[in-house]
Amino acid sequence: MSGHDTPIPMSSRRSGPLSGVAEVPGDKSISHRALILGAMAVGETRVSGLLEGEDVLDTAKAMRAFGAEVTRTGAGAWSVHGVGVGGFAEPAAVIDCGNSGTGVRLIMGAMATTPITATFTGDASLSKRPMGRVTDPLALFGARAYGRAGGRLPMTIVGAESPVPVRYATPVPSAQVKSAVLLAGLNAPGRTVVIEREATRDHSERMLRGFGAEIAVEDAPEGRIITLTGQPELRPQTVAVPRDPSSAAFPVCAALIVEGSEILVPGVSQNPTRNGLYTTLVEMGADITFEDPREEGGEPVADLRVRFSALKGVEVPPERAASMIDEFPVLSVVAACAEGTTVMRGVKELRVKESDRIDAMARGLEACGVRIEEDEDTLIVHGLGAGGVPGGATCASHLDHRIAMSFLVLGLAARNPVSVDDGAPIATSFPVFEGLMTGLGAPIVRTNG
Ligand code: S3P
Repeated sequence: MSGHDTPIPMSSRRSGPLSGVAEVPGDKSISHRALILGAMAVGETRVSGLLEGEDVLDTAKAMRAFGAEVTRTGAGAWSVHGVGVGGFAEPAAVIDCGNSGTGVRLIMGAMATTPITATFTGDASLSKRPMGRVTDPLALFGARAYGRAGGRLPMTIVGAESPVPVRYATPVPSAQVKSAVLLAGLNAPGRTVVIEREATRDHSERMLRGFGAEIAVEDAPEGRIITLTGQPELRPQTVAVPRDPSSAAFPVCAALIVEGSEILVPGVSQNPTRNGLYTTLVEMGADITFEDPREEGGEPVADLRVRFSALKGVEVPPERAASMIDEFPVLSVVAACAEGTTVMRGVKELRVKESDRIDAMARGLEACGVRIEEDEDTLIVHGLGAGGVPGGATCASHLDHRIAMSFLVLGLAARNPVSVDDGAPIATSFPVFEGLMTGLGAPIVRTNG
């Protein structure tokens, strides 16, 4: 879906204690990958717990356009009949990835080593985001990219006729870039190698192995070295998608800052490449217990019991940034409700997400009475303690789901209501956010009549 025609203004106000069970939806990263790898295997892949948010639904549509049969068989239950590695058909129309950077970048990788041409587009947010970080390594395989100035969408990719394997050190810590290269490497003969200086989320590596690809991961002085052997026959899988730790972050952080709260968030992925927020919250003094740790769908998961906590500011080590890159907006809200200063360094990747998240959070928090310092790579929040944030502002969500949800969480603990100009983007990753949060007792409402 390309953009939302009608904004949905929303607002939240100071909440009584939150309580109950928050069953957050399936992991967005894993959901995209399950559909794409399912489409690249021969035979039927069955997926349960798929995130049925707009981003993932756009990827499902795209996989159909490349020739896979993708069917919804029940709530969160999907079946994908794939066409095999190198079996993608040329799409008849433009591929619209909506708001999803993960969708467009991974799909570009998946098609770049097949001799077909595809044109990609997206909404106003996605059309501002850099694609050169993906098309540069795809060019090494032999693919060509023709886009707008600065490597922006809409963009046409002409897949390589005779792809060659590549060795590529990612210049930015990005799981999307790493995954695009690995997916392209699937249809190149020989070994494709990706080297990442800092570990980013490893769902592609785990799932490629699960689908039967030969993939080796080695920790070396220059970073993580991932070696994929090309042209495997991927075997269809049954994929159980665990709940998304990035979505769980919103009810978890809300419970931490709303006095008297206690909630349970079951079955949340605790993949170490994703759990930096939880480590940070515990360092801030959060009362979170990780109950019944277990393995589900090849990922470590636990049930999180979360109670309101008096929190203190911390310094987040920059080397932790990649493992919590999507959680800095909501962490900055928690930091505003903590005593003392929280320093987030090494976060410049936030500037090229669905919005410039450093700028979006800084401006909204300032409007709510919180003192902020920032530079290109840093966000510093001067906390006002529990119940100390004045609130009383309308914040711009900039077509960014996580910015909208973060400010609605802030309103639950602020002295005055907090509004967002547009909550529509929430549907990209967390379509049940409103019902789930109000079910816990959170006063979050739509304000357009
Ligand atoms: C994702 C990787 C991250 C993250 C995004 C999902 C993925 O982006 O922000 O929400 O599924 O690979 P980058 O790879 O650009 O850091």
